[in-house]
Amino acid sequence: MDLTLTDEQSAILDMVKEFTAREVAPVAAQLDRDARFPKDHVARMAELGLMGIEVPEQYGGSGLDPMSYVLAMEEVSAACASTGVIMSVNNSLVCDPLVKFGTEAQKERWLSPLASGEKLGCFMLSEPEAGSDAAAQQTIATADGDGFVISGTKNWITNGPQADTGILFTMTDRDAGSRGITAFVVDMNGKGVRRGQKDDKLGIRASHSCQVFFDEHRVSADQVLGQVGKGFKVAMSTLDCGRIGIAAQALGIARAAFTAAASYACDRRTFGKAIIEHQAIAFMLADMEVEIEAARMLTWRAAILKGQGVRHTKESAMAKLYASEVANRVAKDAIQVHGGNGYVTEYPVERHFRDAKITEIYEGTSEIQRLVIANHIIKG
Ligand code: CAA
Repeated sequence: MDLTLTDEQSAILDMVKEFTAREVAPVAAQLDRDARFPKDHVARMAELGLMGIEVPEQYGGSGLDPMSYVLAMEEVSAACASTGVIMSVNNSLVCDPLVKFGTEAQKERWLSPLASGEKLGCFMLSEPEAGSDAAAQQTIATADGDGFVISGTKNWITNGPQADTGILFTMTDRDAGSRGITAFVVDMNGKGVRRGQKDDKLGIRASHSCQVFFDEHRVSADQVLGQVGKGFKVAMSTLDCGRIGIAAQALGIARAAFTAAASYACDRRTFGKAIIEHQAIAFMLADMEVEIEAARMLTWRAAILKGQGVRHTKESAMAKLYASEVANRVAKDAIQVHGGNGYVTEYPVERHFRDAKITEIYEGTSEIQRLVIANHIIKG
């Protein structure tokens, strides 16, 4: 595996580092406190080409590779994990399936405004009774004339309150299980689409999620994404890519917590010396750094395989599982290094601790990632 960044990847990294250091990191704590959607950051990310990183330039994207996406995601998330997930959903859960499964007409109509950042997207798979068991969809799309009529409820939809466009999963044949699921691309401002109150969350508070209700929402046949009955594969292969993004988000959170802990350990003195000179603290920091680097290697490997066009279901699950668990361990230990100061909002590590938790839950819990990995071991 070649770990040398190309000139183009290095340039993207430098550009994102400058953007986040100047514009994102200084306001991240306040955005979190106010649970305020970072609309200025989203507008700037659009200008910088970060809302459709891997989308071909002909459709309004930046035409870059998965490694560039991962590098940008780690950087943005280290500064503000909320901003990170807003970007990640638009890139990997909305633009990606449109690139992969969209018709030429769908790409022109729906993908271009999303990739350029003119519009924002959301991904609607989860339901009140279909979280980990994603095939247990209750939302129904009934064939009607030359289109479909959709009714049902979607849950925890990241970007839901702001989204203009959604990738929606529904049952079109209740008797066919996962083979009865169909994906659509929908207008979030269309008739019969209603959003609930924004969720009040533990972490990533500046990224908003909500329920979305479909009440006889009418779509035309040209809004089917992929083929009727093949929506579950659209969802699963989209999540194979999305999980790389969440691994990179977790990596960013872990790195931010580690950086804060290392800096604090050099400054804070107890028993006549900086606490980093106490072996108990130094070893904690050493373990953090090793685990972060290992998580980065798994994440980069999944991104490289994606770039080579190789199926990476297991590698994405491994990267997401490990990076999210590392983020949680590192953020917890970063609080321990800070002692009492880690428990108060004056220092950033309590935010990293709250933000880290969701990476073990969304886009498939750690238990689901273990299931995916175990299934690959069983099948060989
Ligand atoms: N790529 C392509 N096809 C796939 C696939 C993949 N990665 N994984 C499975 N499939 C196919 C299978 O080949 C099978 O096809 P056939 O019918 O032709 O045989 C079909 O899909 C069904 O596969 P399984 O029997 O393995 O499916 P399952 O019902 O047992 O579910 C699961 C598998 C892995 C548990 C899946 O339900 C899952 O990933 N659950 C977690 C859902 C999830 O991640 N939700 C996240 C919501 S989005 C989100 O969180 C966004 C956000 O807010 C940021």
